[in-house]
Amino acid sequence: MSVSEKKAVTAPVESASKGLPAKEAAPGVTAVQETGNVVTIEEVRRDPEVVAFIQQANASLFALGFTEHGQRHAGLVGHIAANVLERLDYPERTHQLAEIAGYLHDIGNCIHRQAHAQSSSLMAWRILSRLGMPPDECALIMNAIGNHEEERGTATTPVSAALIIADKADVHRSRVQNPTMAEFDIHDRVNYATTRSFVRVRPEEKVVALELEIDTNYAQVIEYFEIFLDRMTMVRQAITFLGCEFQLIINDTRFS
Ligand SMILES: [Fe+2]
Ligand SMILES: [Fe+2]
Repeated sequence: MSVSEKKAVTAPVESASKGLPAKEAAPGVTAVQETGNVVTIEEVRRDPEVVAFIQQANASLFALGFTEHGQRHAGLVGHIAANVLERLDYPERTHQLAEIAGYLHDIGNCIHRQAHAQSSSLMAWRILSRLGMPPDECALIMNAIGNHEEERGTATTPVSAALIIADKADVHRSRVQNPTMAEFDIHDRVNYATTRSFVRVRPEEKVVALELEIDTNYAQVIEYFEIFLDRMTMVRQAITFLGCEFQLIINDTRFS
């Protein structure tokens, strides 16, 4: 990619806004250093360290009884995060950084579940700087990954907000790894009961809606709130940061 193309995909945030509140021009969104590479999601996905770290992270969490955190989760979160920012008309490079952040956000689970946001962030830094990503872009991705867990994370950039929304939206039957239904814990049951999960961005109304279909043969709607209340609070903060209203719609009933 030429230098001129690099500049073309890193236009200032303000220039892309269409009627939405002016977004903070977060450091790094407006300028890719000409000495740096435009690192792509394809490069990240095929990087041998990324492949190995995601594989080990999911294997470790599977052994501990957690839901799926492998390539499916990584890819889906990246895709949703990018899509949210695209629908809200952020610059193309901002979508791309959100997709990369989404793909790498859980790699630290291969070290330990505890503080995995911080370990994932530092691991991503090493990988992305090795691939030639400019420091300002690395900083945005490190910040987003380091803030994606509800215990201590807050959205302070569009990339971090999109990552939070995408990660917390991934509740779905396909994430359940426990093969024995009789041994399901509440997280398995709620995930298994969720047959559809969709983030719908309605830019003209400034609304980001999380739409879920929960099969109440497996879990009650109240159980979703029981285990995910902190997550929903975090998602609301992230959506508010993007200048939008959060709506939670479960089985065609609006809860917020
Ligand atoms: Fe995580
Ligand atoms: Fe995650």
